[in-house]
Amino acid sequence: MRTQVGIIGAGPAGLTLGRLLELEDIDTVVIESRSREYVEQRVRAGVLEQATVDLLDEAGVGGRARAEGLVHHGVILQVDGQRHRIALSDLTGGRIIVIYGQQEVVKDLVAARVESGLPLWFGSECTSISDIDTDHPRARFAGPDGTTDELECDLLVGADGFHGVSRPLVAPQCQVFERDYPFAWLGILAAVAPSTDELIYARHDRGFALHSLRSPTVSRLYLQCAVEEDLDAWPDDRIWAELQTRFAVDGWTLDEGPILEKGVTPMRSVVAEPMRHGRLLLAGDAGHIVPPTGAKGLNLAIADVAILAPRIVDLLRNGDDAGIEDYSQTALRRVWRAQDFSNEMTSMMHKNPDPFEDRRQHARLRYVVASEAAKRSIAENYVGLPFW
Ligand code: FAD
Ligand code: DHB
Repeated sequence: MRTQVGIIGAGPAGLTLGRLLELEDIDTVVIESRSREYVEQRVRAGVLEQATVDLLDEAGVGGRARAEGLVHHGVILQVDGQRHRIALSDLTGGRIIVIYGQQEVVKDLVAARVESGLPLWFGSECTSISDIDTDHPRARFAGPDGTTDELECDLLVGADGFHGVSRPLVAPQCQVFERDYPFAWLGILAAVAPSTDELIYARHDRGFALHSLRSPTVSRLYLQCAVEEDLDAWPDDRIWAELQTRFAVDGWTLDEGPILEKGVTPMRSVVAEPMRHGRLLLAGDAGHIVPPTGAKGLNLAIADVAILAPRIVDLLRNGDDAGIEDYSQTALRRVWRAQDFSNEMTSMMHKNPDPFEDRRQHARLRYVVASEAAKRSIAENYVGLPFW
């Protein structure tokens, strides 16, 4: 089998890249190990930067995000039982964020690809990649019926997330930068109207809590927990009690409801440099992971492919490889900016087991909420920097 660009992974990065290349008449095949149902139901991120929504719009797949996504102009930081608003739009010349679940983005992209009749092979797990130092890299994959096959392409893009095959394959030739955090998030999706109009990031002595949402009837909440947290130790009552404690402020109530989903997300920072090895390019979580506190993971994945797509077009249409050569360096500038911001937000908002670090970060947060300059800096980074 042959195509121009083989894309491994039907997450936001792989599917968006497929769409951007479709609009340029470049042939692609997307190989995805999971089923369509699985990728469309997987609950993950929820905050889209304005630039992400604009890009989805330009690609003709942003209609539902525009219609159903919730536009937010601010977020709240809570410290010492007091709430402080970061006026995102006022501090950034009118920029916004849109609350729209990652799985909805995935549904929209899958629907568009299916409608275009383009190859999107679910249940097909890429098992190995070869010949990346030639003009015809190959991906081997096992199909849903157990058969194996091979896809030959002009370029391969590893958009297969953090647990995919692409990064481990090139890891020996990469420099991998990593940082683990001494905590994780226990996240829930609950069938209850959000108790807040804007996201609340709360620092509490018992640990961080985040109140987000998905719709007027569905809330998404997170609690700082231990890295090896056992979900069985967290019956619904305990989760709500802990959320009540961490969000408590006078005169405000957190409404409770049935918990639809719960899970523990570990926190890491990882960057693999470079994001290109011959004719294999890494995009999204395959190349880097950020801790979720800055809401950057999904936005970075889409920014990578926004940077990558025109460079692929230059190479395949005009034989110009300057853009591909420069892809990694360009994408990594943005990735490291997001690493810094995500690390800053994570450190500042969480209870740290190191008492010195904990007090230092508490002091930093108290400064941030008191300073117009610091709030503006948070706002600029939170709404997202340009793609450049
Ligand atoms: P992914 O979405 O991971 O997509 C990769 C795809 O590749 C998957 O569909 C996978 O099934 C497929 N795949 C993997 N291996 C193979 C293979 N060998 N062959 C074929 N296909 C393969 N970010 C935030 O900003 N906020 C959050 O709250 C948040 N929560 C998260 C919770 C969890 C549990 C996880 C794992 C991530 C979370 N993130 C969050 C991060 C965010 O969801 C990711 O940054 C985003 O999904 C990256 O998109 P991607 O397309 O690069 O990778
Ligand atoms: C959500 C996730 C985040 O990591 C974040 O910083 C804000 C919101 C969410 O899932 O809604």
